[in-house]
Amino acid sequence: MNKTPLNVVILAAGKGTRMHSRLPKVLHVLGGRPMLGHALERAAALRSDRVIVIYGFGGDAVPSAFHAAGVDFVRQEPQLGTGHAVQQALPYLQSGGTTLVLYGDVPLTRVTTLENLLSKPGLRLLTATLGDPAGYGRIVRDTAGRIVRIVEERDASTRERKIREINSGILCAPTDKLRDWLSRLTNRNAQKEYYLTDIVPLAIESNTTVTSANAADEWEILGVNSKDQLAYLERVHQLQNARLHMARGVTLADPWRFDVRGELHCGKDVFIDVNCIFEGEVRLADDVRVGAGCVLRDVAVGVGSEIAPYSHLHGAVIGAHCRVGPYARMRPGTRLADEVHVGNFVETKATELGHKSKANHLSYLGDTTVGSRVNIGAGTIVCNYDGANKYRTIIEDDAFIGSDTQLVAPVTVGRGATIGAGSSITKDAPADSLTLSRAKQVTVTGWKRPVKKQG
Ligand code: UD1
Ligand code: CA
Repeated sequence: MNKTPLNVVILAAGKGTRMHSRLPKVLHVLGGRPMLGHALERAAALRSDRVIVIYGFGGDAVPSAFHAAGVDFVRQEPQLGTGHAVQQALPYLQSGGTTLVLYGDVPLTRVTTLENLLSKPGLRLLTATLGDPAGYGRIVRDTAGRIVRIVEERDASTRERKIREINSGILCAPTDKLRDWLSRLTNRNAQKEYYLTDIVPLAIESNTTVTSANAADEWEILGVNSKDQLAYLERVHQLQNARLHMARGVTLADPWRFDVRGELHCGKDVFIDVNCIFEGEVRLADDVRVGAGCVLRDVAVGVGSEIAPYSHLHGAVIGAHCRVGPYARMRPGTRLADEVHVGNFVETKATELGHKSKANHLSYLGDTTVGSRVNIGAGTIVCNYDGANKYRTIIEDDAFIGSDTQLVAPVTVGRGATIGAGSSITKDAPADSLTLSRAKQVTVTGWKRPVKKQG
């Protein structure tokens, strides 16, 4: 298809005074990434030819937070209004097509809504009719229902303030005409600013049709000016996520207590209990169950495995039919083969556990290779660090590590070996033998407990 060029200009220069933060507003995080990232994602989904971000407050913090190829960051200094902001983008626009203006602090507009806005010619405004229009620019229409102008609340008459149809700020226009209109803006208004909205009468003068489109949901046009509004849109965003997963067959104990701050991919018949957080890229295969309060970051879980409540997993690959937690902690480089059990208060790091091995209680396994069918007793600690360097521990197939054992790396426990409980193992333990290192048990006959001195 031969399509005309599409430019997207994202306004992001504002400070966001009401956020009470040192961070520029558009860098505040929604759904695990900066708000501006959501606007950039929309621009990418629309397959725009040019993307220009107008930034200002916070210096280079905004451009340095993004490494998006093909995006121009243009500084607006000083900030003289929305019209002035779009003027800064003019040298970067590709002529002959359409320019869409988005706000960096309006993160949840649907791509389909923007496509609908772009589907008709002329100047197109995304508008909404609100119960409480306070603070917004109002859409003024003539008796025939045609848009005449947009009046800012501070410039509006009492009568105009009663209008409930508002300007979202998002609009699109033919690029070449937009250039012309912008060059004719003045700042004769209550705020002494160059208002982008003043292009409406200029468009009418130049015989350009001015029409409006609506969004399906009100939250699509809502901006973030405060932490309260950010929290509200975060819940909206997460509920949309939750609905998407449920529509694909995931069972959520409570869609209002479900947070994805990255990408979550689920197979069939996955169950997720309340208050779980998914970060980075998480893959849950068929029949996986995730218990309440789990945090999973960059994790893959195999078919039929269960992550019991309050487990914290980061950078782990879990095989099929494993049981993890409750209260397990997995750090990067953890790999479980199939049917492995890792229980409560067990921490793993750069550790592999082979088929059917178990570490059920209170252990630390760091830089360890565990074979198949190994049993790691309660309280086993791998001492992988001598204060300067780290070393590996190898525990071969069918070994049995008695409770409360320390394995001082580097050390190897041979195939089928048994380590007696309470041992400190500093040398390799041979295969198929019992190795232990503990003082012999003695009983002192006739020994008496001390008694408290009188007076
Ligand atoms: C603007 C619209 C108003 C609309 C409202 C929706 C104008 C004159 N008014 O009002 O009709 O109802 O948005 O929220 O356009 N920005 C810059 N540079 C500037 C000024 C603003 O980049 O010099 C950015 C801000 O960071 C923000 C967006 O533009 O993302 C809107 O600015 P804001 O000050 O919130 O606009 P309003 O005056 O509230
Ligand atoms: Ca605003």
